[in-house]
Amino acid sequence: MHRLELVNRELQTWFGVDFTYWDGETGEMMRAAEMQPPGDENFLSPMVRAVAAKKKPEIIAEQAVACILALPLAMDSVTVIATSPFLTGDCYESEDEYQGLARLLGTTPERAAAWTREQHSWTTQSLERMARLQLSKLSVDEEARRLTNEIDKISDSLSSTYEEISLLYGLTQNLRISSSDEQLGDLALNWLLEVLPCEGLAIQFLPTGDDNVSSKGRRETKTLSVGVCPLEAQQLSHLVQHLNLGEKGAPFVANQRITAREEWPFPKVRQLIVVPLAEGDNIFGWIMAFNHCENKGFGTVEASLLSSVGAILGIHSGNIELYRQQSEFVTSVVQALTSAIDAKDPYTCGHSDRVARLSVCLARQMGQDTDSLNLLYMAGLLHDVGKIGIDDSVLRKPGRLTDAEYEHIKLHPELGYNILKGLKQIEKVLPVVLHHHEQWDGKGYPYKLKGADTPLLARITAVADAYDAMSSDRPYRKGMPEEKVDAIFREGAGHQWDPAVINAFFAARDELRDILSEERAEIRFDVRDWLK
Ligand SMILES: [Fe+2]
Repeated sequence: MHRLELVNRELQTWFGVDFTYWDGETGEMMRAAEMQPPGDENFLSPMVRAVAAKKKPEIIAEQAVACILALPLAMDSVTVIATSPFLTGDCYESEDEYQGLARLLGTTPERAAAWTREQHSWTTQSLERMARLQLSKLSVDEEARRLTNEIDKISDSLSSTYEEISLLYGLTQNLRISSSDEQLGDLALNWLLEVLPCEGLAIQFLPTGDDNVSSKGRRETKTLSVGVCPLEAQQLSHLVQHLNLGEKGAPFVANQRITAREEWPFPKVRQLIVVPLAEGDNIFGWIMAFNHCENKGFGTVEASLLSSVGAILGIHSGNIELYRQQSEFVTSVVQALTSAIDAKDPYTCGHSDRVARLSVCLARQMGQDTDSLNLLYMAGLLHDVGKIGIDDSVLRKPGRLTDAEYEHIKLHPELGYNILKGLKQIEKVLPVVLHHHEQWDGKGYPYKLKGADTPLLARITAVADAYDAMSSDRPYRKGMPEEKVDAIFREGAGHQWDPAVINAFFAARDELRDILSEERAEIRFDVRDWLK
């Protein structure tokens, strides 16, 4: 119900009449009373303006049998004046006497006479007292109404703050390096669409990484969107270019003041917030909110929320990028070391790569998980890295080794261990490098470990290593025939080698044979990239 109606009903209850309402500023009549003569407009208009200025109830006109009461009412930001005539004396005896009252009431003498007959008589003092009481009650009501509105607003704001905190908390719960930035971006967009009063949202991830073909960075711009996104992927890039946000980290907000201009090139975009996904000086992309649902302007509340999400996504992208760079660095180191081993011992070129693949095949046969397969692959590539420290004359000797030469070559597991031990990122391969020449019966080296004391991945590598060594041709001898290799393994199971690994060897015999005949492949450290 309109506020004026509510006030009128209230005044009617107290005074028993309905009132006429005036604009306190202009003195114009806003609403005439239905049951009462409204009064003479020309006469009353300046009077109500004076009452509005004084802000006090007042009897603004008085005549022998009646008066007009004026009440100033504060309504939001304007003052409205309520007026009504009241009978204050006895009725006149003849109609001629009603001329003056009729003028005051703005009606005919007949109607003025009829009016006096319907009225209860008041004293001016009781009218004024009632007016003061009524005004103070209305002002209390008004204050209560204002406080209720305030509480509603605070409650709305609290509930939206709660939603925002939940959203940010949810995002931080997903800040794992294993979640891709696109997965996290997708999550953020869907949550934001529920919280922000916008029609659509988009994220544009910029390419990362370098031109190196083996780099796993993002090669092309990637766009995600939810809701009604008014621009295509390519237009989003134009938008960012057009806004010339470049290196700036602050959120950019455009409302109709900007978008209504003739030179604004994206007519479907009425309101817009653009925030960078930034970590330090690095910008990994942009998150954008489009078009306010109620066509209002976006404000600081929306911009700050989007900024917080942009910062979280930026930090996550920064971490992923750092992790990628580290992984690629480790890959390069391992590749360099593998090339160094091959260069040192050209007779066995490709041995490390084959041992790595054979080990993965055996481990997979034994039910090892992907992390172990990845580790074993890297360990296979590096297992003989210690040979870099062995004399060329011994390593490349075509014939049989002397005892002293054999003792020298037996140093390579420990040499390898010492070469790699400072590299934190690949420390997990150290047990394989150190123990790949131990034997099940304890007759191996360097520590003569027995049975399961030798780490499982080293026991697996030992079988892969022996299989490749026996099967491959050397300049001074041909590779052994398959039957002989198999016979040696059967004989050696439970003596030189772990019987469980030998079982896996025979179970995966065909696949292992295929690996030996394969061309040397590109090094790819995530076995999921090349395992079928
Ligand atoms: Fe070795």
